[in-house]
Amino acid sequence: MEGTAEVKASTEQAKLAMEKGGVVVLDFGGQYTQLIARRVREQQVFSAILPCTTALEDIRELAPAGIILSGGPSSVYDKNAPKCDPAILAMGIPVLGICYGMQWIAKNLGGKVEPAERREYGPAQLDVHKVDSHLFKNFPDKMKIWNSHGDHVHELPPGFHATGRTSNAIAAAEDPKRRIYTVQFHPEVNHTDRGTEILRNFLFTVCKAEPKWSGAAFIEETVEAIRKKVGTHHAICGLSGGVDSTVAAVLVHRAMGDRLTNIFVNTGMLRKNEFEHTLEMYRDRLGLRVVGVDASEHFLHKLKGVSDPEKKRKIIGGEFIAVFAAEAQKLQKHEAQGDIRFLVQGTLYPDVIESVSVKGPSATIKTHHNVGGLPSDMPFGLIEPLRDLFKDEVRRIGKELGLPQEILVKHPFPGPGLAVRLLGEITSKDLTTLREADAIVVEEIRRAELYEKVWQAFAVLLPVRSVGVMGDGRTYGLTVAVRVVQSDDAMTADWVRLPGEVLERISARIVNEVPGVTRVVYDVSSKPPSTIEWE
Ligand code: XMP
Repeated sequence: MEGTAEVKASTEQAKLAMEKGGVVVLDFGGQYTQLIARRVREQQVFSAILPCTTALEDIRELAPAGIILSGGPSSVYDKNAPKCDPAILAMGIPVLGICYGMQWIAKNLGGKVEPAERREYGPAQLDVHKVDSHLFKNFPDKMKIWNSHGDHVHELPPGFHATGRTSNAIAAAEDPKRRIYTVQFHPEVNHTDRGTEILRNFLFTVCKAEPKWSGAAFIEETVEAIRKKVGTHHAICGLSGGVDSTVAAVLVHRAMGDRLTNIFVNTGMLRKNEFEHTLEMYRDRLGLRVVGVDASEHFLHKLKGVSDPEKKRKIIGGEFIAVFAAEAQKLQKHEAQGDIRFLVQGTLYPDVIESVSVKGPSATIKTHHNVGGLPSDMPFGLIEPLRDLFKDEVRRIGKELGLPQEILVKHPFPGPGLAVRLLGEITSKDLTTLREADAIVVEEIRRAELYEKVWQAFAVLLPVRSVGVMGDGRTYGLTVAVRVVQSDDAMTADWVRLPGEVLERISARIVNEVPGVTRVVYDVSSKPPSTIEWE
């Protein structure tokens, strides 16, 4: 998707959810921007991240209670340093600048920023000057903070007074008259003492925001906003069997009932019984209107002879779109009578590339994390009700919506499914082998009550044969690798130290119950340098 469209989409989504005095986080591309937004929501104040280039009118239209300027990787003096419209500092809306945000404010209001003699990364001590500080009210004289900056503010702009220093630099300053607050360090990370209190002081003392954002409020507001947006038209949604698309579909179903039709495609790359089981859950337990399309033979045919992982992904993505589009067209012709106008997607915040704001029009969405990577040129408007949220927030919304626990805790599963866990060429026979082995891994992980404690647990079928003995005969059988990882966000992951008995049961059951497999190995690699999936 093109960057400007992306910016528009974020602004539109923010508008839907923000009528009630939330906080806008303007993104300068910092590594902690998402965390800032999240910390604000933890205080029950809605927050949405917008690119720093968002137009002033768009911000004004959102009527935020406050604006937070994020950190960023640049120096304010870099040629391509990201910028906001400086007029945001004169809107009368309280502003909190964090790290680069502080430097940008200082530079724009007549202060001086320069490279620090010593760069400050990691922990430092803050000496708090409590003279009339709103942010540090009733704080101790010294506290631990977390820094990550090369430049610092050398001279404050007129109207500001310093409220904190490290041994190296001015670390915090305020201009209470203009209600502009700045910190050089990161209150949003856990390593900063009282970071939450600093944010709370900004939100509640300075901005007078009301803590009324919650799962229930989010559902109510989102449902209302979707109703307004879709009017009497129809929509379609591609379901993947995962929590994101399910929560998105249930939310939209609340807003428009059976005018939302969901399409669930069996690519043949799903886990054991997953298609039938999930379809039944969608229909019988969630009451969704779902068209189930079993295209497994078709996908298998298209994948014949292909062993390159990226080719497999491309084929599956492309065929998924073709199947989805054909179904959509059928619906459009018949039941919906040409009235399908919207496409629902379960895009989450981490799916939207981190710094649209900084990268501008070249930024894209990580399509491979969406259902089959639906193209942006489909003739539909997008509804992405979860666009501002993180996975655990989506799970909470799902819980609030009454979704069954099994879907809320379901492990992430790649769009191309078992195709990237069956190394090399895909055959129907090997798929069956992998499915059986995978089902055993998951069953045993559940039995050991570990399923909800780990990020992913699955089997991989390797194109490696090895010698074995079974009974009196020698065998030359297949190898299954077992992968169980712990992770917070899939960016990094560690292998799980499974108890020996669990490994033993998994291994024994696989070689005994899955024909053709004679060897089981456990994957003890972390990410990085490995990845979670094998292909
Ligand atoms: P890796 O293997 O890159 O995986 O460490 C990180 C997370 O992403 C999932 N994954 C995918 N999801 N399409 C998807 O929808 C894909 O092609 C894909 N590849 C990996 C993986 O399961 C893990 O949670």
